Amino acid sequence: MQEGIFITVEGTDGAGKTTQIALMKDYLESKGYEVVLTREPGGTSISEKIRSLILDPENTEMGILTEALLYAAARAQLVSQVIRPAIEQGRIVICDRFVDSSYVYQGYGRGIDLKIVADINRAALNGVTPDITFFFDISPETALARRINATGADRIEKEKMDFHMKVYHGYKKLALLYPERIKTIDSRRSIEEISLDVREWLDELLG
Ligand code: TMP
Repeated sequence: MQEGIFITVEGTDGAGKTTQIALMKDYLESKGYEVVLTREPGGTSISEKIRSLILDPENTEMGILTEALLYAAARAQLVSQVIRPAIEQGRIVICDRFVDSSYVYQGYGRGIDLKIVADINRAALNGVTPDITFFFDISPETALARRINATGADRIEKEKMDFHMKVYHGYKKLALLYPERIKTIDSRRSIEEISLDVREWLDELLG
Protein backbone atom coordinates (compact mmCIF):
# COMPACT_ATOMS: atom_id res chain seq x y z
CA MET A 1 0.00 0.00 0.00
CA GLN A 2 1.19 3.50 -0.81
CA GLU A 3 2.42 5.60 2.11
CA GLY A 4 0.16 8.47 3.08
CA ILE A 5 0.99 12.14 3.36
CA PHE A 6 1.59 14.23 6.45
CA ILE A 7 0.57 17.90 6.32
CA THR A 8 1.06 20.30 9.22
CA VAL A 9 -0.43 23.74 9.72
CA GLU A 10 1.27 26.50 11.68
CA GLY A 11 0.86 30.15 12.55
CA THR A 12 0.43 32.51 15.45
CA ASP A 13 -2.85 32.53 17.35
CA GLY A 14 -5.57 34.14 15.25
CA ALA A 15 -3.89 33.46 11.89
CA GLY A 16 -7.00 31.74 10.51
CA LYS A 17 -5.70 28.16 10.59
CA THR A 18 -9.01 26.57 11.56
CA THR A 19 -10.95 27.90 8.57
CA GLN A 20 -8.22 26.91 6.13
CA ILE A 21 -7.86 23.42 7.62
CA ALA A 22 -11.59 22.78 7.10
CA LEU A 23 -11.35 23.98 3.47
CA MET A 24 -8.25 21.85 2.90
CA LYS A 25 -10.02 18.76 4.22
CA ASP A 26 -13.08 19.37 1.99
CA TYR A 27 -10.85 19.87 -1.04
CA LEU A 28 -8.83 16.70 -0.48
CA GLU A 29 -11.95 14.63 0.22
CA SER A 30 -13.60 15.95 -2.94
CA LYS A 31 -10.60 14.50 -4.78
CA GLY A 32 -11.23 11.11 -3.18
CA TYR A 33 -8.54 11.11 -0.48
CA GLU A 34 -9.14 9.80 3.02
CA VAL A 35 -8.26 12.59 5.41
CA VAL A 36 -7.48 12.36 9.11
CA LEU A 37 -7.72 15.67 10.93
CA THR A 38 -5.96 16.10 14.23
CA ARG A 39 -4.45 18.77 16.42
CA GLU A 40 -1.68 19.53 18.85
CA PRO A 41 -1.53 19.51 21.75
CA GLY A 42 -4.28 16.89 21.72
CA GLY A 43 -5.75 14.43 19.25
CA THR A 44 -5.83 11.41 21.59
CA SER A 45 -7.53 11.14 24.96
CA ILE A 46 -4.17 11.11 26.77
CA SER A 47 -2.84 14.04 24.72
CA GLU A 48 -6.05 16.02 25.35
CA LYS A 49 -5.53 15.49 29.10
CA ILE A 50 -1.98 16.78 28.74
CA ARG A 51 -3.39 19.74 26.78
CA SER A 52 -5.73 20.62 29.67
CA LEU A 53 -2.80 20.43 32.07
CA ILE A 54 -0.62 22.73 29.96
CA LEU A 55 -3.30 25.28 29.13
CA ASP A 56 -4.91 25.38 32.61
CA PRO A 57 -4.61 29.04 33.71
CA GLU A 58 -4.23 27.85 37.31
CA ASN A 59 -0.87 26.23 36.52
CA THR A 60 1.00 29.52 36.82
CA GLU A 61 4.02 27.85 38.44
CA MET A 62 4.69 25.55 35.46
CA GLY A 63 8.32 25.86 34.34
CA ILE A 64 9.17 26.37 30.70
CA LEU A 65 11.05 23.08 30.50
CA THR A 66 8.14 21.20 32.07
CA GLU A 67 5.87 22.81 29.51
CA ALA A 68 8.19 21.81 26.63
CA LEU A 69 8.35 18.22 27.91
CA LEU A 70 4.57 18.03 28.21
CA TYR A 71 4.10 19.22 24.62
CA ALA A 72 6.58 16.53 23.56
CA ALA A 73 4.77 13.89 25.64
CA ALA A 74 1.43 14.78 24.04
CA ARG A 75 3.18 14.61 20.65
CA ALA A 76 4.73 11.17 21.33
CA GLN A 77 1.28 9.75 22.05
CA LEU A 78 -0.31 11.38 19.00
CA VAL A 79 2.47 10.23 16.67
CA SER A 80 2.34 6.62 17.82
CA GLN A 81 -1.43 6.31 18.25
CA VAL A 82 -2.76 8.36 15.33
CA ILE A 83 -0.29 9.90 12.89
CA ARG A 84 2.04 7.00 12.12
CA PRO A 85 -0.74 4.39 11.75
CA ALA A 86 -2.77 6.69 9.47
CA ILE A 87 0.23 7.40 7.24
CA GLU A 88 1.00 3.69 7.08
CA GLN A 89 -2.59 3.09 5.97
CA GLY A 90 -2.12 5.51 3.06
CA ARG A 91 -4.22 8.34 4.50
CA ILE A 92 -3.58 12.07 4.40
CA VAL A 93 -3.04 13.43 7.89
CA ILE A 94 -3.58 17.14 8.55
CA CYS A 95 -2.29 18.23 11.93
CA ASP A 96 -3.16 21.64 13.37
CA ARG A 97 0.30 22.52 14.80
CA PHE A 98 3.23 20.13 15.21
CA VAL A 99 6.86 20.26 16.32
CA ASP A 100 7.48 23.64 14.64
CA SER A 101 5.14 25.10 17.29
CA SER A 102 7.57 23.89 19.95
CA TYR A 103 10.51 25.48 18.12
CA VAL A 104 8.79 28.84 17.90
CA TYR A 105 6.76 28.99 21.15
CA GLN A 106 9.16 27.19 23.51
CA GLY A 107 12.35 28.06 21.59
CA TYR A 108 12.06 31.53 20.08
CA GLY A 109 9.18 32.59 22.37
CA ARG A 110 10.18 31.32 25.82
CA GLY A 111 13.89 31.27 25.09
CA ILE A 112 14.73 27.56 25.44
CA ASP A 113 17.81 26.67 23.38
CA LEU A 114 16.61 25.30 20.03
CA LYS A 115 18.97 22.35 20.37
CA ILE A 116 17.27 21.39 23.64
CA VAL A 117 13.85 21.65 21.94
CA ALA A 118 15.15 19.35 19.20
CA ASP A 119 16.61 16.89 21.72
CA ILE A 120 13.38 16.76 23.72
CA ASN A 121 11.36 16.04 20.60
CA ARG A 122 13.60 13.56 18.81
CA ALA A 123 12.24 10.52 20.59
CA ALA A 124 8.65 11.82 20.43
CA LEU A 125 8.79 12.20 16.65
CA ASN A 126 10.40 8.80 16.15
CA GLY A 127 11.34 9.74 12.58
CA VAL A 128 7.94 11.15 11.58
CA THR A 129 8.32 14.50 9.78
CA PRO A 130 5.81 16.53 7.78
CA ASP A 131 5.87 16.31 3.98
CA ILE A 132 4.63 19.88 3.81
CA THR A 133 3.94 22.61 6.36
CA PHE A 134 1.74 25.61 5.73
CA PHE A 135 2.72 28.69 7.69
CA PHE A 136 -0.22 31.09 7.73
CA ASP A 137 1.67 34.34 7.79
CA ILE A 138 -0.04 37.29 9.42
CA SER A 139 1.64 39.50 11.98
CA PRO A 140 -0.01 39.20 15.42
CA GLU A 141 -0.38 42.98 15.41
CA THR A 142 -2.42 42.88 12.21
CA ALA A 143 -4.45 39.90 13.48
CA LEU A 144 -5.11 41.70 16.77
CA ALA A 145 -6.13 44.92 15.00
CA ARG A 146 -8.68 42.86 13.04
CA ARG A 147 -10.02 41.33 16.24
CA ILE A 148 -10.20 44.69 17.99
CA ASN A 149 -12.36 45.92 15.12
CA ALA A 150 -14.53 42.82 15.41
CA THR A 151 -14.78 42.18 19.15
CA GLY A 152 -12.50 44.51 21.11
CA ALA A 153 -9.22 43.30 22.66
CA ASP A 154 -8.55 42.93 26.34
CA ARG A 155 -5.57 44.17 28.32
CA ILE A 156 -4.00 40.71 28.57
CA GLU A 157 -4.10 40.29 24.82
CA LYS A 158 -2.18 43.52 24.37
CA GLU A 159 0.38 42.59 27.05
CA LYS A 160 1.10 39.32 25.36
CA MET A 161 1.97 41.04 22.09
CA ASP A 162 5.71 40.99 22.78
CA PHE A 163 5.66 37.20 23.17
CA HIS A 164 3.53 36.69 20.08
CA MET A 165 5.87 38.86 18.01
CA LYS A 166 8.81 36.67 19.10
CA VAL A 167 6.82 33.62 18.05
CA TYR A 168 5.95 35.24 14.74
CA HIS A 169 9.56 36.11 13.96
CA GLY A 170 10.49 32.55 14.97
CA TYR A 171 8.16 31.22 12.27
CA LYS A 172 9.71 33.57 9.72
CA LYS A 173 13.17 32.24 10.62
CA LEU A 174 12.07 28.60 10.41
CA ALA A 175 10.45 29.25 7.03
CA LEU A 176 13.77 30.64 5.78
CA LEU A 177 15.67 27.65 7.16
CA TYR A 178 13.35 25.05 5.57
CA PRO A 179 11.95 26.59 2.38
CA GLU A 180 11.47 23.18 0.74
CA ARG A 181 9.06 22.04 3.44
CA ILE A 182 7.52 25.20 4.89
CA LYS A 183 5.24 27.12 2.53
CA THR A 184 4.53 30.65 3.65
CA ILE A 185 0.97 31.71 2.88
CA ASP A 186 0.24 35.44 2.99
CA SER A 187 -2.77 35.43 5.29
CA ARG A 188 -3.67 39.10 5.11
CA ARG A 189 -5.80 38.24 2.08
CA SER A 190 -9.37 36.96 1.79
CA ILE A 191 -10.27 33.40 2.81
CA GLU A 192 -10.83 32.51 -0.88
CA GLU A 193 -7.47 33.87 -2.04
CA ILE A 194 -5.61 32.07 0.75
CA SER A 195 -7.44 28.84 0.03
CA LEU A 196 -6.55 29.00 -3.70
CA ASP A 197 -2.89 29.33 -2.78
CA VAL A 198 -3.10 26.29 -0.51
CA ARG A 199 -4.84 24.25 -3.20
CA GLU A 200 -2.06 24.99 -5.67
CA TRP A 201 0.52 23.64 -3.23
CA LEU A 202 -1.64 20.58 -2.54
CA ASP A 203 -2.04 19.89 -6.26
CA GLU A 204 1.71 20.10 -6.71
CA LEU A 205 2.31 17.78 -3.76
CA LEU A 206 -0.22 15.19 -4.89
CA GLY A 207 0.90 15.30 -8.53
P1 TMP B 1 -4.12 26.14 19.66
O1 TMP B 1 -4.73 27.35 20.30
O2 TMP B 1 -3.67 26.39 18.24
O3 TMP B 1 -4.94 24.91 19.82
O4 TMP B 1 -2.75 25.86 20.45
C1 TMP B 1 -2.70 25.92 21.82
C2 TMP B 1 -1.54 26.74 22.28
O5 TMP B 1 -0.41 25.90 22.51
C3 TMP B 1 -1.08 27.83 21.32
O6 TMP B 1 -0.98 29.06 22.02
C4 TMP B 1 0.29 27.38 20.89
C5 TMP B 1 0.76 26.51 22.01
N1 TMP B 1 1.72 25.47 21.64
C6 TMP B 1 3.04 25.56 22.10
O7 TMP B 1 3.39 26.49 22.80
N2 TMP B 1 3.91 24.55 21.78
C7 TMP B 1 3.56 23.47 21.02
O8 TMP B 1 4.39 22.59 20.75
C8 TMP B 1 2.19 23.40 20.54
C9 TMP B 1 1.76 22.23 19.71
C10 TMP B 1 1.31 24.41 20.88
